[in-house]
Amino acid sequence: MYRSPIARVGLIGGGQLGLMVAREAIALDIEISILDPHPFPPAARCAFRHIQGALDDPDAIRTLAENCDIISYEIETGDPGTLRRLRKPVEPSPATLEIIQDKLVQRRHLEGAGIPMPAFRELKTEDADETARILQDFGYPLVHKTRRGGYDGRGVAVINTPLPAGQNDPTPLPASPISWNGESYIEEAVSIRKELAVLVARSTDGEIRSYEPVEMHFDPSLNLVDAVIYPADIPPETVTVCRDTAMAAVAALSGAGIFAVELFYTDDHRVLVNEIAPRPHNSGHLTIEAAVTSQFQQHLRAITGLPLGDTTFHQPAVMRNILGGPVPGEPHYRGVDAVLSESEVSLHLYGKKETRPGRKMGHITATGADGWDKAHRSWRKISVNGV
Ligand SMILES: Nc1ncnc2c1ncn2[C@@H]1O[C@H](COP(=O)(O)OP(=O)(O)OP(=O)(O)O)[C@@H](O)[C@H]1O
Ligand SMILES: [Mg+2]
Repeated sequence: MYRSPIARVGLIGGGQLGLMVAREAIALDIEISILDPHPFPPAARCAFRHIQGALDDPDAIRTLAENCDIISYEIETGDPGTLRRLRKPVEPSPATLEIIQDKLVQRRHLEGAGIPMPAFRELKTEDADETARILQDFGYPLVHKTRRGGYDGRGVAVINTPLPAGQNDPTPLPASPISWNGESYIEEAVSIRKELAVLVARSTDGEIRSYEPVEMHFDPSLNLVDAVIYPADIPPETVTVCRDTAMAAVAALSGAGIFAVELFYTDDHRVLVNEIAPRPHNSGHLTIEAAVTSQFQQHLRAITGLPLGDTTFHQPAVMRNILGGPVPGEPHYRGVDAVLSESEVSLHLYGKKETRPGRKMGHITATGADGWDKAHRSWRKISVNGV
């Protein structure tokens, strides 16, 4: 038996992920409080309470926690130390957050659990000659990544050829926007056939369930997820390998919640883990329409100790992000009527008060047959502050 509300959840971050979690919370009589610095963040539209404060402000986090039974987050920038000191359950665990926040620590941790990944190596030195030697040793092409704070491809640079001769100022190198200051690492540039993602949920009692993989397509200029497609066009045995690999990766981390495991399916048919997000993820938006349990509801079930939901996809789907056009400022939507006139197309607008070029302002999910055509047709019609 449950008392009302079934649980009180404090969510650090109130962006679109928080909004979609909060919407599901209403259906389950879960009370959501959010912490977000903006006066009108997307999730505030559905949240029970909004605490306005910085995401890493210990006082604000304590205020959030006071009225909640469980703390979770929709963004990985929280301070694990502050979260540990709350003496309330934080899901996924602060230990997991700490591992995820440093991509090199994440690589090492997953390597220890035997998870297949691109080969990698720490870069500690600031000495240009030594750096050049290490890179030469490692072999080109390679990928240079910042350990912390990278997102949407910022903090990732592919380096195809050796550094220019005589290059003696390694911070930063012309070929890489990232400084070589000991906070970075290099990894094998894998030849990617498809980028995939698998959602994995783990409940407070340790049960693990995975979804089928989806394909992620990136906008090459913005480095953002541009389209997500279910089902992924991969052989059935690869689907199994993807799910098993993703579940093994999540099993190596502690805490309850939904995890998105980004995978590379390579030209030589390897399935490698790229990185893990310990939260709902852009690749899982289409679970709202296409799966029995959306990633957002699954996250709430997982962290509150409710039974996990069915992860089955019941129809094909294509999701496309709606990004802010060139003109920043107050959003003006064009093409809403046209999108809403399409059948089997769902429109999600996040209600952000300000748009910027490339900012995620909403998304479209088309379901059923010809999902790609319907999603693309709708996506071309809608714009936010386009020219
Ligand atoms: N080892 C690699 N080999 C080839 N391509 C890679 C490799 N690592 C990353 N990439 C490419 O760079 C993209 C961004 O990398 P990664 O996911 O590590 O960075 P990110 O900034 O955390 O991205 P996001 O926030 O979008 O998830 C990947 O989606 C992939 O296209
Ligand atoms: Mg990524």
